[in-house]
Amino acid sequence: MTGELFELEMIGGSIERRYRKMRPEVEAMPWGTIDVSRVPEENLIAARRAWTGAAFQEHRTGVACSATLRALIEARAPLDLIALAARFPLDEMVHVELCARMAMELGGGTEIMHDPNALVLDADPELPPLLRAAEVVVRFFCVGEALSIPLLRGTWHAARHPLPKAVLGRIVKDEAAHGTFGFTFLDWAGEHLSEEDRAHLGRSADIGIAFMRRQWEDIRKNPRAPAHEGDALAWMATDAYLALAERSMEEKVIGPLTERGIPITRSSGPGSGNVIG
Ligand SMILES: [Fe+2]
Ligand SMILES: [Fe+2]
Repeated sequence: MTGELFELEMIGGSIERRYRKMRPEVEAMPWGTIDVSRVPEENLIAARRAWTGAAFQEHRTGVACSATLRALIEARAPLDLIALAARFPLDEMVHVELCARMAMELGGGTEIMHDPNALVLDADPELPPLLRAAEVVVRFFCVGEALSIPLLRGTWHAARHPLPKAVLGRIVKDEAAHGTFGFTFLDWAGEHLSEEDRAHLGRSADIGIAFMRRQWEDIRKNPRAPAHEGDALAWMATDAYLALAERSMEEKVIGPLTERGIPITRSSGPGSGNVIG
């Protein structure tokens, strides 16, 4: 694999203390309480890989939120709406830390190579500012973030141990605001969007939807081992997760976008319609 290793660091000292003050809930979690001594080696590795992957996804989402924030400011979106979105990159950095620390609790992160220049697909720079903002809002928020609320909530429900429960609970809490943001933006921007603009946004949504379905296809091919009695690493069963994912795509993404006049190509994307069999 080529690219750069996904690694994280902290400066520490007064900088870390200021960060901790902003988000005291991170240190308040029951770190150091998971006993993994009786967890089979391969389950442990799978869990370390899953949490490292989650940290990387949160990192990517941090870039997506920052790209969106810039586009919103350039488009002179309503100031209060921009102010809400300004919190999102910090939330995502907290989520990166939480997931990375979960991997550390289980023995350490696993190796992820990535291309930092290709983390997210930016808006087409040729488009006018409002449409640029709408494009990234639709792809990152109306698709990605809107889906993460029900999926994270489902994963949180499945968690048994207090530590992953606290970590997922915190992420779910933050994501509630992220997941509704895209549609709030569209409700404001709607009157400024032409038929042609909406068609462009529909194509953007198709790209986002196809991207999510590719990820689900990978999950389907590499299912997690089923949870057992007293499983400290309990996770949502793969079939249940994928069924929830497909249902949420209909209810939280395709439905609300269609209601707002954004045309979705239902047949687009690999595995569409047959992800859950
Ligand atoms: Fe997040
Ligand atoms: Fe988020």
